[in-house]
Amino acid sequence: MKTLAIIGAQWGDEGKGKITDLLGQKADLVIRFQGGNNAGHTIIVGEKKIVLHQIPSGILHPSCVSVIAHGVVFEPEAFLEELEKVKKEIEVSPDRLKISLNASVITPYHKLLDALRENKAVKKIGTTGKGIGPAYEDKVSRKGVKVKDLLNKEALITKLKNTFEEKETLFTHLYKSDFPSIEEVADKLCKYGEELAPYITDTFSYTDKALKENKKILFEGAQGVLLDIDYGSYPYVTSSSTGAAGIYTGAGISSGKIDEKIGIVKAYTTRVGEGPMPTEMTCEKGDRLQQIGNEFGATTGRRRRCGWLDLPSLKYSVKASFITSIALTKLDVLSGFDELKVCYAYEIDGNEYDCAYPGLDLEKAKPLYKTLTPFTQDFSQTDYVTELNDYINTIEENLNIPVGILAFGPERSQIHFRKEYF
Ligand code: GDP
Ligand code: IMO
Ligand code: MG
Repeated sequence: MKTLAIIGAQWGDEGKGKITDLLGQKADLVIRFQGGNNAGHTIIVGEKKIVLHQIPSGILHPSCVSVIAHGVVFEPEAFLEELEKVKKEIEVSPDRLKISLNASVITPYHKLLDALRENKAVKKIGTTGKGIGPAYEDKVSRKGVKVKDLLNKEALITKLKNTFEEKETLFTHLYKSDFPSIEEVADKLCKYGEELAPYITDTFSYTDKALKENKKILFEGAQGVLLDIDYGSYPYVTSSSTGAAGIYTGAGISSGKIDEKIGIVKAYTTRVGEGPMPTEMTCEKGDRLQQIGNEFGATTGRRRRCGWLDLPSLKYSVKASFITSIALTKLDVLSGFDELKVCYAYEIDGNEYDCAYPGLDLEKAKPLYKTLTPFTQDFSQTDYVTELNDYINTIEENLNIPVGILAFGPERSQIHFRKEYF
């Protein structure tokens, strides 16, 4: 096994950081291929909690090289702050952390625009406010700033003028907002460029070489398939290709294939932000899941909406992202509930559906539940628990792929491998 992908199979926050960190111990490279600092990937090591937003979750392993590939939208100021925090935990040299010269840059204008739009919107998306959508828009409209532009002030100013003179009209006339001048933004970005220079490189060539040398590569996704710009619950999605397909364009694997795509699945369902969520429980049980699971967004601190496991949406994610096995996380959170349910199908307008195909109106979906035997044991104290078998079998039969990893707690040791990966 040489190449593995870590893909969020729900609406994000499934525990990708923890699984990437664990598998990263054996990886030569961990590559982030999309998204930006909207992501919040948590790693717990003993008493320490490290939340990574842009730096790949392999960074805590000295033998692993972390790559931020060109599909990422890169926020320089947030990155430098994050790097400082990580450096308090482990030595990080440019040999071990590489930023693509072709990654698109999130500028202060993007963040401002994201916030202004959300404030004014009649139907809000509930974005993280990090400027992700506006930065990807500029990339696609071919007016974006690239990381390499931070190294050349003259080129940067020309690009910023090209991109932002028209946005200034929006700030002034539509949003009636203050905004920083192009010179001010250029000065700031160039200052960051100087600090970033040693880390900036052609990550495409670097990855290409690593693939030819049969290195062990882990691709770390952010968000989840149900937030994918094409496959997700549009318009309540993020602006990137969060599934495995995003690896081909966002990391640029010019040779080779992805051997295994591991779908990270929380044992129940959560969502932050707006949009349909068929199994959401706005009752005491949902509140309990939220509290026991400590379901607060790792980036914005917002309360996550909670509900039982949603198999129709997972079935769709598995198809949409060619997921080949599952890592099931947060099983410990379900222990002690006096009832345990999974949604096996939706009823919409009198018809039953077992897969959340895009043609369905999820706002209308009434979840149909199967009741399973509740978990009673304290999973955090044990290695493997037979009372989980019914839950695991239900998932495997429904999705037709194996559950390869079980996680019972946030720490590295709270894990059970049913399948060998690297
Ligand atoms: P990511 O964005 O997919 O990396 O996930 P987040 O870090 O945003 O959210 C997952 C949260 O669950 C983090 O606080 C993790 O420390 C925690 N976590 C991960 N796996 C487990 C688990 O098996 N049990 C429990 N109780 N917490 C877990
Ligand atoms: P990780 O990688 C959960 C959600 C936001 C909002 C929508 C669009 O930690 O799983 P954006 O700022 O991307 O334009 O917001 O996507 N969202 C996430 N939800 N986990 C994330 O990342 C998310 N990143 C974005 O809440 O609904
Ligand atoms: Mg997260």
